[in-house]
Amino acid sequence: MKRLVLLGPPGAGKGTQAAMIADHFCVPRISTGDILRNAVREGTALGQQARAHMNRGELLPDSLMMEIVEERLKLPDCKNGFVLDGLPRTVIQAKELEKIVNIDIVVAIDVGEEEVVRRLAGRRLCPICEAGYHVEFKPPRQAEICDRCGTPLKQRDDDQEGVIRNRLKTYREWTAPLLEYYKRKSILRVIDGKGKVEEVFRRIVSLDLQKR
Ligand code: AP5
Repeated sequence: MKRLVLLGPPGAGKGTQAAMIADHFCVPRISTGDILRNAVREGTALGQQARAHMNRGELLPDSLMMEIVEERLKLPDCKNGFVLDGLPRTVIQAKELEKIVNIDIVVAIDVGEEEVVRRLAGRRLCPICEAGYHVEFKPPRQAEICDRCGTPLKQRDDDQEGVIRNRLKTYREWTAPLLEYYKRKSILRVIDGKGKVEEVFRRIVSLDLQKR
């Protein structure tokens, strides 16, 4: 598969679609958000730094994020393609990424702000088995309880409405300019992120994602 970057505002469905693409094409999904949340959970030095930024809806320093991703991209499982979810988030990161690896295609998931607020405010996660739910779009059988392991579900700390609004502001200011940046490089494909998860996935796989 091609080396693919997923772009889109918080809650656009990048994580959901990245997991499906990675499964479908048997390539790794590299999620910077997941890497940081694991570090927070493990209480590492990175985690302590990440927690403060994430809970304010702000970005971590470019140099730190590039170091993390460069290490990950060196692993042999990335040789036959990958899905990068969460980086680049600034033009500086995009330029640094180009020095490490060639990106073949950038898929931007287009969803309006009110819809992403609704998606994020309703997102629930199981802290034990990591299953994902949504109170409206993918509710568990018993409210707020994980179907798989019976654990009470949690909300991500950065899914409080005030933090969501800040994440959107950060996106508009720092990440949205990447759409123009990749459009000029002729590797941007914008897809409609509205509708069911499976419909959005079909739109993505209908793009030419196979490496020749
Ligand atoms: P990150 O984890 O990357 O957060 P994000 O970009 O804000 O994205 P989300 O994970 O919230 O949303 P998503 O688009 O993946 O949507 P999802 O599929 O989950 O980053 C978190 C933080 O880490 C950042 O704020 C920053 O502080 C830091 N960070 C990370 N990378 C960084 C970098 N490169 N540089 C600096 N800092 C960095 O879906 C959301 C919800 O909607 C779910 O409940 C899902 O079930 C539901 N849903 C999905 N698709 C649909 C659909 N089609 N219809 C209905 N519901 C849907």
